[in-house]
Amino acid sequence: MIIKEIINRRSIRSYTSEPVSDEQITEIIKAAQFAPTSNHNCAVEFVVVKGANKNKVYDVLKKDFVKEAPVLIVPVLDKAKSVAPVQDLSIASEHMMLQATALDLGSVWKNLDETWAAEVKKILQIPETHLIINLIPIGHIKTPTPAHTDAEFSGKKIHKEKW
Ligand SMILES: Cc1cc2nc3c(=O)[nH]c(=O)nc-3n(C[C@H](O)[C@H](O)[C@H](O)COP(=O)(O)O)c2cc1C
Repeated sequence: MIIKEIINRRSIRSYTSEPVSDEQITEIIKAAQFAPTSNHNCAVEFVVVKGANKNKVYDVLKKDFVKEAPVLIVPVLDKAKSVAPVQDLSIASEHMMLQATALDLGSVWKNLDETWAAEVKKILQIPETHLIINLIPIGHIKTPTPAHTDAEFSGKKIHKEKW
């Protein structure tokens, strides 16, 4: 039995203007802080962006969902504190998206290439020593996407004992 948050989580790129509460944001970040981390470093931090900087990030990324979503959460990691920074940021991100789903909120992984990451770090005053790989817009879903179904499952991708 697959848990319902995994079935229902979809990448949402269209949000209503209804705000996301501070309690919901805290729950989402708490879920990320319960994620496994390399060497149990617990080093992922989060920038929550709701104000004018959101428009500045939109000006860089030019994605309407960045402007529409009432909040962006940017997972941030001090590179000196992790032996596996991309993995630590990624699993924290997935926990956030699953928790957002549990709260009936939408989310999407917006990937940041090096150029975008540098520009977003500048806007948010994230130090050079710290890594960002993505940001997660969170909001109430305007246009729902159907949940996942068993049609997406492929037993052929399971290799038994060897490739
Ligand atoms: C590493 C990674 C990078 C992604 N980058 C983007 C992105 O830059 N923009 C975007 O809209 N979606 C992005 N996505 C979301 C995927 O497009 C999405 O997960 C995929 O289409 C499957 O849809 P679902 O999330 O609704 O199941 C990314 C997902 C991952 C895991």
